[in-house]
Amino acid sequence: MTAPSPIQLGDTFGRPLRDIRISVTDRCNFRCPYCMPAELYGEEYSFLPRSQILSFEEIERLSRIFIDLGVAKIRLTGGEPLVRAHLPELVERIAAIDPGVDLTLTTNGALLAPVAGDLVKAGLRRVTVSLDSLDPAVFTQMCGRDNVQPDVVLDAIEAAAAAGLTPVKINCVVQRGVNDHTIVDLARHFRGTGHIVRFIEFMDVGTLNGWDLSQVVTAAEIVDLISADVPLEPIGANYVGEVAKRWRYVDGSGEIGIISSVSQPFCGDCSRARLSTEGQLITCLFAAGGLDLRGPMRDGASDDELKALVAGCWSARTDRYSEQRSGLTIRPRKRVQMFQVGG
Ligand code: GTP
Ligand code: 5AD
Ligand code: SF4
Ligand code: SF4
Repeated sequence: MTAPSPIQLGDTFGRPLRDIRISVTDRCNFRCPYCMPAELYGEEYSFLPRSQILSFEEIERLSRIFIDLGVAKIRLTGGEPLVRAHLPELVERIAAIDPGVDLTLTTNGALLAPVAGDLVKAGLRRVTVSLDSLDPAVFTQMCGRDNVQPDVVLDAIEAAAAAGLTPVKINCVVQRGVNDHTIVDLARHFRGTGHIVRFIEFMDVGTLNGWDLSQVVTAAEIVDLISADVPLEPIGANYVGEVAKRWRYVDGSGEIGIISSVSQPFCGDCSRARLSTEGQLITCLFAAGGLDLRGPMRDGASDDELKALVAGCWSARTDRYSEQRSGLTIRPRKRVQMFQVGG
C-alpha cells in the first residue's frame, strides 16, 4: 500500500495532478487517418524497439510514485494497449498498488472481447471503446483497415459490459464530410443501453493528420443534430475537470458526452499528465516533448529522486494549449503524436 495522505501538487495555475494516462505501446492494429495515417505508418515503419519501451516493472514503479503524488485515476492507452502482450498482468500490478485508484483503459475494441474477463479479474474498473461509425464503409475508412467490421467492436462492447466494465464509454471522433452523417445513427443505436457515447471534436493532435478547422463539427452542431432526433438537456459534471460535457435525453433514455477541445477548451481544470511509451512525462496532449523518467530510473534514481523530478516538472507546468490554439496553430510547431501518448 502507498502512503496514506498523498502530497498535493499544484502547477503554476494551481491545477492538481490527479489523472495519468499511460501509453503502453506505440503500436496499433488500426491506421486511423486522423492519428496514424497508413501512408506514413506502413509495414516498414519502425516502432520503438523493446529496449526503449518501459517494462511492466518500470510502469508499476512509476504508477506507485504518481499515486503517492496524488494521482487518483490511471488510464492505460497506446497506440492500442491490447497489442501489448500480457496486459492483464500489468493491470494486476497497478491495481495491487492501491485498489482505490480508478483504473481504466481506452481501446479500439478489436482485441477486447476475448480478454475482457481477464482484465476484470486483474482489477480493471472501466473501459472506453473507440467506434467512429456503424456504417461499414465509413468505419473502414476511419480505422484504415478493410479487414475489420464494426460488428467486432459492437461485440467487444457487449463482452466488456457482460464482464462488468460498466458503464462502457464509446468514443466517436467526428470529422466533417467523413462520418458526421452517421452520428445520429450511432447515438440512436446506444440510446437505452446504458452505454455512454462521447462525440469528440476532431483535434489538431500531432502534426500528421492534415487538420484544419473546416473539418471540425462543433459541440453545438453535434448537440443540435442529435437533439433534432431526440431532445437533449445538459447535466452537471461527475467530477471537477471532467473532459466530456454531459447531456441527457429528456425522455430518460440515457446520456451522451461531447468533448469540445476546439470550440470550448477545458484547460482551466486540466489535471492530466501523460506517460509516453518510452517513459517521458508529458504535461499536455499538445506538448512538443516531455521529461525523461526512463533514463534516471535506469541510471539508478531512488523513488524520492523520481518523485522530485515529477513534482518539479508538474510545479513548473504552464500548459493551456487548447485555450491558446487559435494563435498557436497559425505558427505550426513540433508536437508529440497521438499514438505516442494515447490521447
Ligand atoms: P473518463 O474517465 O471516462 O471521464 O474518460 P476521459 O474522457 O478522460 O478519457 P478518454 O480516453 O475517453 O478521452 C476522451 C477524449 O478526450 C480523447 O479523444 C482524448 O484525446 C481527449 N482528451 C482527454 N484528455 C484531454 C486533454 O487533456 N486535452 C484534450 N485536448 N483532449 C483530451
Ligand atoms: N482528434 C480527436 N480525437 C482523436 N483520437 C485520436 N486522434 C484524435 C484526433 N485527432 C481519439 C481516439 C480515441 C481517443 C483516445 O482519442 O479515437 O478514442
Ligand atoms: Fe490506433 Fe487509436 Fe490511433 Fe486509431 S486513434 S490509429 S485506434 S491509436
Ligand atoms: Fe490539458 Fe493541454 Fe488538453 Fe489543455 S490542451 S486540456 S492543458 S492536455
